[in-house]
Amino acid sequence: MVPFEYYNPTKILFGEGKIAKLGKEIAKSGVKKVLLHYGKGSIFKNGVYDQVVETLKKHNIAYVELGGVKPNPVISKVQEAIKLISEENIDGIIAVGGGSVIDSAKAIAAGSKYDGNVWDFFEGKAAPESAIPLFVVLTLSATGSEGNPFGVVTKEEENKKWAFSGGVHTFPRVSVIDPTVQFSLPANQTVNGAIDAMSHIFELYLDGTPENDAIEAYAEGLLKSLMKHVKVLLEQPYNLESRSQLALCAMLALNGTTRIGRLGGDWATHTIEHSVSAFYDIPHGEGLSILFPAWMMYNLDIASPKLAKLGGALFGIDEGSDKKSAIQFIHKLREFYSEIGAPVTLSERAVSRDMLPTLAENAAIIAPIGRLKKLYKEDILNIYKLAYE
Ligand code: NZQ
Ligand code: ZN
Repeated sequence: MVPFEYYNPTKILFGEGKIAKLGKEIAKSGVKKVLLHYGKGSIFKNGVYDQVVETLKKHNIAYVELGGVKPNPVISKVQEAIKLISEENIDGIIAVGGGSVIDSAKAIAAGSKYDGNVWDFFEGKAAPESAIPLFVVLTLSATGSEGNPFGVVTKEEENKKWAFSGGVHTFPRVSVIDPTVQFSLPANQTVNGAIDAMSHIFELYLDGTPENDAIEAYAEGLLKSLMKHVKVLLEQPYNLESRSQLALCAMLALNGTTRIGRLGGDWATHTIEHSVSAFYDIPHGEGLSILFPAWMMYNLDIASPKLAKLGGALFGIDEGSDKKSAIQFIHKLREFYSEIGAPVTLSERAVSRDMLPTLAENAAIIAPIGRLKKLYKEDILNIYKLAYE
């Protein structure tokens, strides 16, 4: 096991009806006026907006709305919000949505306490030293953003889809996870969410940590549960137990617990994916179902033992020969992704073959990437080629 430090201050309110408790939490924190931040309108159709407004009114929290956050959120929206916060004397923010809204809100929360350009955080030119308090009502379980300090935002004009961490400052103070609000998700978004959560577990599991039995067994348990319940939800979208299990596992996948005693994760596949969703604006989960099997295949020599272990745990593949079992696992994983309706090749998402060098160039801006094996532009291009068809 690798020595570690673990810290996660986010209070989670989990279960049906918990949105009603949020107003009291915000009032307790001393916040008087919040920015109510949301996406393109799903919260008006499924009643979440009404529930949020009700609890704010009940506890006399004033609010100013700013919706319109798009999936794969953009820095121009963050900058618009920071301006509004200063004009309106807002002292807190409530993000109502999926990862895109929450990530946008994290950048706003930290950016509104920073004199320079908020994009500096993403370029590593500055680190947040404070942030206004952030509260979350999660509507899509996928990213784990509801329980971590990370935000991913795109600078549109440069096609840079980059991440930042505000450390202690950008953990949500309180996150409400009411799985019933996810009944309204389209099937493909439920699938994308499960794949994103699975990929977070893979990034950590496959980072080259030699041994960590307890956390690996925990990670395997989360993966099994995600795989089981996403299938149930495709048949029964209103199954509350499955919605709850998926929501719980997605949060745990990236709230620091799967990182305990590990080297910190590989994360090359995430970087490689972010370039695809920066240029093609496809959902993050779709990019991952296409690219993770390709990354695994490319790193077969070094990743085989752990891939074979996953094959045993998830598909009952005989661990006999590491390499053979690892290849079997990758095939099974792709089959599973196809079965749940996710794409497994870049060509399925109309990515042009001619664009692969441009994507590789974009992902390699911060090269070398990856911990298990350091990857450079040529490696990244090879992975795109493996994922092409
Ligand atoms: O915009 P609205 O109308 O709300 O619709 C959204 C959006 O179209 C819809 N949706 C959300 N909840 C719904 C719903 N529709 C019906 N019923 C509901 N209950 O779903 C669509 C996708 O939403 P989005 O927030 O974009 O999805 P997700 O949660 O997957 O977030 C993806 C973003 O998070 C980043 C991704 O790269 C991507 O930009 N990530 C953030 C991470 C983090 N902060 O830790 C880590 C991840 O690896 C990831 O990179
Ligand atoms: Zn992800």
